Amino acid sequence: MSEKVTVGLLGLGVVGSGVIKLIENHQQKLAHQLGCNVQVKRVLVRDLDKSRDVDIEEDLLTTNPDDVLNDPDIDVIVEVMGGVNEAKDYILKAFTSKKHVVSANKDLVALHGPELQDAATHNKCDFYYEASVAGGIPILRGIVDGLSSDRIQKVMGIVNGTTNYILTQMDSEGVSYENALKEAQELGFAEADPTSDVEGLDAARKMAILGRLAFSTPVDLEDVEVSGIKGIELEDLQYGDQLGYTMKLIGYANFDNHELEINVQPTLLAKSHPLAAVKNEFNAVYVYGDAVGETMFYGPGAGSLPTATAIVSDVVTVIKNMRLGVTGNQFVEPHFKKELKTSDKRYAQYYVRLFAKDEAGVFSTISALFHDQDISFKRILQTPVNKGEVAEIIFITHQTSLENFQQALEKLESLDAVLEVKSYYKVEGDAIS
Ligand code: NAP
Ligand code: HSE
Repeated sequence: MSEKVTVGLLGLGVVGSGVIKLIENHQQKLAHQLGCNVQVKRVLVRDLDKSRDVDIEEDLLTTNPDDVLNDPDIDVIVEVMGGVNEAKDYILKAFTSKKHVVSANKDLVALHGPELQDAATHNKCDFYYEASVAGGIPILRGIVDGLSSDRIQKVMGIVNGTTNYILTQMDSEGVSYENALKEAQELGFAEADPTSDVEGLDAARKMAILGRLAFSTPVDLEDVEVSGIKGIELEDLQYGDQLGYTMKLIGYANFDNHELEINVQPTLLAKSHPLAAVKNEFNAVYVYGDAVGETMFYGPGAGSLPTATAIVSDVVTVIKNMRLGVTGNQFVEPHFKKELKTSDKRYAQYYVRLFAKDEAGVFSTISALFHDQDISFKRILQTPVNKGEVAEIIFITHQTSLENFQQALEKLESLDAVLEVKSYYKVEGDAIS
């Protein structure tokens, strides 16, 4: 192999600048590991005149993608431009030109990852995307290599920094949702349009990628049920806190008997759960394996240099594969077929907050209704709102099927005595009280 491996960058924004800095600052370590230098030769941008966050020779920049994709000297393309259609076209072109690709693009990998992987394999090229999930945390390699001997049963992730920041600020500082979101935007964690953060889609994309790799099964983005954090009220966080829980946007995936449950939803997590300690913009992924039991991977889920570490590590893997002549293998080959778990097989505990008439017999009607659905209560709180008129009732159920819970909820909403079911959330873990 030659004395240097040449990289072409598509994009020089937050992450691309980090990649340039990391390659420059860690050149000696890279050369020691690889026995060759890593050099960035061309960089695609949209605007040549924009001021950059990194020192770079002007003639490396181009607005013509062909200057990067058709340069015969370039071995590895790093795609850090974002977006879906153009990025996909460029990556497919790169594979046709027998160039390996490293991408940070969760939107693209969640939607078209399997197709891109097929194109890579067909052209005997590598395709890695460690940075697409949880930024600087080496979670994809942790799952694929570190836990390759185990059978992963469950993956739970706090994989969106913006929503974790908002919920932490609401919970610990009493900041309103709107103000916490504004702060997350000012601090730069949120996407330019934060809708995909707060509505859970960003986390869903990352969970689809995690699910594929953890369970070696095809997971489509549409398989991930999503609900976001809009509409969560401070009261729910306060009652949760009183009962020993903290609210997190949790990506949850579980696979047994070829049946998959995968979703992203606000969840009241027992404070004793390892994920409950993950605050502000930090990310963490909890993985439960048959043999290993509980593991957790924690760190920065975004940011210039943290994300660049994942990308440059992928580049190192590609170069090692080139050296060994083993490029073109899949990260993980899907070999289990998948069916989505029906609601009668999905078990969880639930928190419910409702307003009811404050009169004799109301609570026993509610509890009889849940008893009929085979659901028992684990914790109950009742507070009079207007003495003798309205009471606020909060309860947490024991484990029940989603099917039974949904039926109970429907009946609850139609009771005369129930004025409003204000909120309900999944509950995970046992609170110490
Ligand atoms: P960014 O700051 O907006 O940078 C995007 C870069 O790509 C810019 O340099 C832009 O050029 C260039 N670009 C975009 N579209 C282009 C086009 N059509 N033609 C030529 N150049 C184009 O984005 P980023 O935050 O670095 O994110 C890049 C990717 O990494 C995304 O897929 C993102 O989801 C992913 N990611 C980001 C983070 C993070 O912390 N930011 C973490 C994990 C993953 P100009 O500079 O000339 O405008
Ligand atoms: N908007 C994302 C987040 C950035 O808040 O986690 C990293 O993907």
